[in-house]
Amino acid sequence: MRHLLDIMDLSVAEIDELIATANDIIARPAAYADVCAGKKLATLFFEPSTRTRLSFEAAMLDLGGKVLGFSDAQCSSSSKGESVADTIHVVSCYADIIAMRHPKEGAPRVASMHSEVPVINAGDGGHNHPTQTLTDLLTISRELGRLNDFTIGFCGDLKFGRTVHSLISALSRYTGIKIVLISPEELELPDYIQRDVIDKNGLESYKTTDLLEVMPQLDVLYMTRVQKERFFNEDDYLRLRDSYILTPDKLDTAKKDLKILHPLPRVNEISVKIDADPRACYFKQVRNGKFIRMALILKLLKEAEA
Ligand code: NCD
Repeated sequence: MRHLLDIMDLSVAEIDELIATANDIIARPAAYADVCAGKKLATLFFEPSTRTRLSFEAAMLDLGGKVLGFSDAQCSSSSKGESVADTIHVVSCYADIIAMRHPKEGAPRVASMHSEVPVINAGDGGHNHPTQTLTDLLTISRELGRLNDFTIGFCGDLKFGRTVHSLISALSRYTGIKIVLISPEELELPDYIQRDVIDKNGLESYKTTDLLEVMPQLDVLYMTRVQKERFFNEDDYLRLRDSYILTPDKLDTAKKDLKILHPLPRVNEISVKIDADPRACYFKQVRNGKFIRMALILKLLKEAEA
């Protein structure tokens, strides 16, 4: 059974194929309107979400399938003490495919070991978020026209930001990528990603605390929220949460065709004044998320049937 737990579970060729399918769905949505008729997607969200859960559900509905699930662990039997393994065992009797978000790193992997249907990791703790990465790759490829040869700055919470971890892993397989890591010292990228992904693959990288210093070099700026829910101590969060606030003046030295991405939700790290700037791509990114999830659901269901 094929699952998507980590972005590295997909080859570059498969990612290219998913991007091609998503672009075709964008161009010809009617052709896909009932390709999943009779199929059900379960969304099991043990952690809050707006975009990811609704985009999975909208994706399945737009493919003609149906959706079921929960968006609050308190409403599920996990609040009675049921294990992830048992919950998945039960849900895989009702659904053809499962998208699951969980605060514990590795929970979707445990789920996949007990599931009779494909499991998609929709975010596990501070670890991974492969479908956000597919969304980001589709957005970069549509906006820049390529997935090779660009400089991307990751700014904010690089320690707990799972979307950053997954996207850096994915980019390690493309050529000519330069990674610029912009964060306060306390929120630097975890050592295991620096060592096992960046250093091991010989990815070019540069670390700084100063966004303005590197702004002129960037083709893509990936802003992130400081991940409040992963802090052990409120004071640290309050001290670090406003480390970087992107305001229009900070873009003075930026490239005219910079692409500004953010997985959302935004708290205040991007001023709303930037929203009207043509370089802001974060709402396009949201739209792309549904289309790439449609492509992914189609692929995993097809492979499960084969
Ligand atoms: C991200 C997540 O959940 O990791 N959001 C998302 O899925 N679009 C980023 C975040 O919560 O900051």
